[in-house]
Amino acid sequence: MNITLRALTEDDDLRAIVSLAERIWSEHYPGIISWAQIHYMLERTYRPHLIAAEIASGVRWLCATDDSGPCAFAAYAAQADGRVRLDKLYVLRSHRGQGVARRLLDELIEWCARAEVEQPVRRVYLTVNRNNSGSIEAYRRMGFSIEGSLVADIGHGFVMDDYVMGRPIDSVRPVSSPA
Ligand SMILES: CC(C)(COP(=O)(O)OP(=O)(O)OC[C@H]1O[C@@H](n2cnc3c(N)ncnc32)[C@H](O)[C@@H]1OP(=O)(O)O)[C@@H](O)C(=O)NCCC(=O)NCCS
Repeated sequence: MNITLRALTEDDDLRAIVSLAERIWSEHYPGIISWAQIHYMLERTYRPHLIAAEIASGVRWLCATDDSGPCAFAAYAAQADGRVRLDKLYVLRSHRGQGVARRLLDELIEWCARAEVEQPVRRVYLTVNRNNSGSIEAYRRMGFSIEGSLVADIGHGFVMDDYVMGRPIDSVRPVSSPA
């Protein structure tokens, strides 16, 4: 698979990433959360103007593309406490198990090392639905472990019932350290 990665800008046509997210969520989340919650979460997150605003505020949206078009994406941002929050990591079902998520995670780690984050980053963390067992296992394989759990009320009667998972970024030195 010939995959290229590109960081999206707020000036990109972000409708392609919205379509990709809708496709991945529709094929993956039934059985984990209700259709009503899927629609609610897509609607409040995956809209071009919302993604553009996130990018403008410093969230890095990374899109993976192969010959047939966009096939995966990740979104992450440095936090004030020096960690990086991996907020999104999604791969089309047809493209899974071929190292695409690892490529996206490697790029996150390289981004930290390139000192695009101002804080000394030691950890990357994420939240994942407790019933999303395949993805939890994939994260374990990529070096994450469960650090806690989090139940968040997201309105309209919906909750996110998640594990918090994290892993160190050992290879990244503080920005202020000598080379
Ligand atoms: C989780 C997800 C991003 C993994 O993407 P991927 O491109 O298939 O992952 P990779 O091919 O890079 O695999 C990374 C590692 O995880 C393992 N892995 C991937 N999917 C797995 C699964 N379902 N069960 C167990 N292990 C899995 C791989 O074997 C690999 O480990 P290895 O290198 O030791 O063999 C992808 O399955 C996905 O998009 N899932 C649906 C959306 C989702 O739940 N995203 C997370 C939201 S928090």
